Amino acid sequence: MAQLLRCASRTARLVASSSRSVVACPRAAALSARIASSVPASGFGAMSSNVNSSVAAVAGAGPHRGVVVAAASTGGLPQAAFSFEPDSLPAVSVAAGGGGANVADVAAGWEGDLLVLGVTEEDFVTEAEVTSLKGDALKALDAALGGALAEIVAAGGFDGKQGAQSRVLRLYGGAKAKHVAMVGLGKAAKLAVVADWGASPFQALGAGVATLAKANKVVTVGLALLPGAAPAAAVAATALAQITSGTLLGGYEATRFKTKKSPTASRLAALTVVGAGVEGAGAEAAIKRGLAVARGNLLTRYLVESPPNVCTPAHLAATAAHIAAVAPEVFSLKVYEKAECEAMNMGLYLGVSEASAEPPKFIHLKYAPKGGSAARKIAIVGKGLTFDSGGYNLKAGPGSMIELMKFDMGGAGATLGAARILADLQPADVEVHFIIAACENMVAGEGLRPGDILTSASGKTVEVNNTDAEGRLTLADAMWFAQEKCGAKAVVDVATLTGACIVALGTQIAGLFTPSDEMAASLTAASKVAGEKLWRMPFENDYFDDLKSPVADMKNTGSRYGGAITAALFLKQFVNEGVEWAHVDVAGPVWNEKLGLPTGYGAAFLAEWALAQAQAPAK
Ligand code: BES
Ligand code: MN
Ligand code: ZN
Repeated sequence: MAQLLRCASRTARLVASSSRSVVACPRAAALSARIASSVPASGFGAMSSNVNSSVAAVAGAGPHRGVVVAAASTGGLPQAAFSFEPDSLPAVSVAAGGGGANVADVAAGWEGDLLVLGVTEEDFVTEAEVTSLKGDALKALDAALGGALAEIVAAGGFDGKQGAQSRVLRLYGGAKAKHVAMVGLGKAAKLAVVADWGASPFQALGAGVATLAKANKVVTVGLALLPGAAPAAAVAATALAQITSGTLLGGYEATRFKTKKSPTASRLAALTVVGAGVEGAGAEAAIKRGLAVARGNLLTRYLVESPPNVCTPAHLAATAAHIAAVAPEVFSLKVYEKAECEAMNMGLYLGVSEASAEPPKFIHLKYAPKGGSAARKIAIVGKGLTFDSGGYNLKAGPGSMIELMKFDMGGAGATLGAARILADLQPADVEVHFIIAACENMVAGEGLRPGDILTSASGKTVEVNNTDAEGRLTLADAMWFAQEKCGAKAVVDVATLTGACIVALGTQIAGLFTPSDEMAASLTAASKVAGEKLWRMPFENDYFDDLKSPVADMKNTGSRYGGAITAALFLKQFVNEGVEWAHVDVAGPVWNEKLGLPTGYGAAFLAEWALAQAQAPAK
């Protein structure tokens, strides 16, 4: 095929130069005088790396945290090493003293910097514009704290709404805690651990606690849940997991690329939950689950916030190696180099990568439960464009958001974040393939031209009428791999695929596209458990007319209208009969525009989905 031949002739040139280090190339060197890729030049050589060699490359530089760049690859320039996830997180525990001990008494006796009380809207009464406390437990605690709670509510402005934070009062006299404050859980009738939409009351409570802790620079926090605000016994463990993840994720700040210590960064070191309604092994398991979710989300944020000269395809591969090193008993990793992708005829993926000086890395991280194989095989495929310039259809002019296109690996970030969660939770009875066709979409004389026809690994041909619709090209070959090489029977792809999806749903909600009602149901359920907003969109097959090409099997781009739907229809062409598939467009929610920071969106709901698949009957 002409397009593959063209690809192959370029290969000769690129392979000849592929031994140069990532940071030694002129472009990277210019960009990375101080900020360098954290991947050792030797980490991923010209041939594929199996888990052993790639883990060795990471682990060789120390425990599973940062990776030090080999001196030889930096040309002697000063280099920083960037970690894959935080080195430590605040410790979470539950207060002893169950067995009927009065929660108000235990809370009053808690010693530390800040005692936070979780309260519902029903914990107050307002009469003649004055708000006061309701309920015996609350009044008893208030008395023990010298009337501080009554003083907070009497001042007004705090109503117990979900996530609302009160002012903080300094306690004196006999009180054991130094300060006290309240955070709202919303309406008592809605104290469920799975909300109809978005964060649950207990996730929001955790986030509120984190915000208060951060703003007040406190180190130790006690969180008390009096009877009216406590979760139902049957869901107490889930609520504790949500409080844990909510607290560990709230008040996030990006610190790795700043040279000065942030004066505003959270100092929280320990959270003690009083009245959690669960103790001992049950509490430990719940905290472990919350911690896992937080770690996954933070790993995703670390990746998405990283600049494109740090988070390269090789960096994504090194992150996968890091995860495999965390739990080598359940993970195996293979990173396919360019030549191996050529051998698999991945013409669409390699076409996108063609103009980039960064070598593509096709990442396959496999989770298999300990002690035997699982009947249920599923795949999560993430779009891993570490930078999307648009190619010859360059992202030009205001509104194109080219400067934000480091987040175009948000799907890959969520995929690896979900893998990080499974590293901790290790479900039985499910095999999960995490797949990322990582590359950059750049501009060069050798790059993909608008109008080129490429051949996919599946054999289908695509007329590339727009080089900026690159994500779907890389995903098509990755989905072929998931089905043909991994035998996945259910595939979810997650991608920052279209601006059109942001136009449709805004920045907080991801679009779900699938012809399968079952997939829609399982993914929607997972999104509710995770508290990540997802909305099913119409799968309008008629719109495929837009993608018909007079010269190839299809074009990669339709008209301006319904752009998120036609993107999904394109991907559907690469789904085999009998395979369940869903596409999740996360272009909006991966990024918080106001904060200029990533959200970590996707890691949690993808992990929840995989965990639920472990419980679903095998097909
Ligand atoms: N990565 C972008 C999608 C994107 C755009 C995400 C803006 C977030 C903000 C994707 O590769 C892209 O460029 N899509 C094009 C598709 C079009 C050419 C059919 C788009 O959405 O404009
Ligand atoms: Mn693009
Ligand atoms: Zn893109």
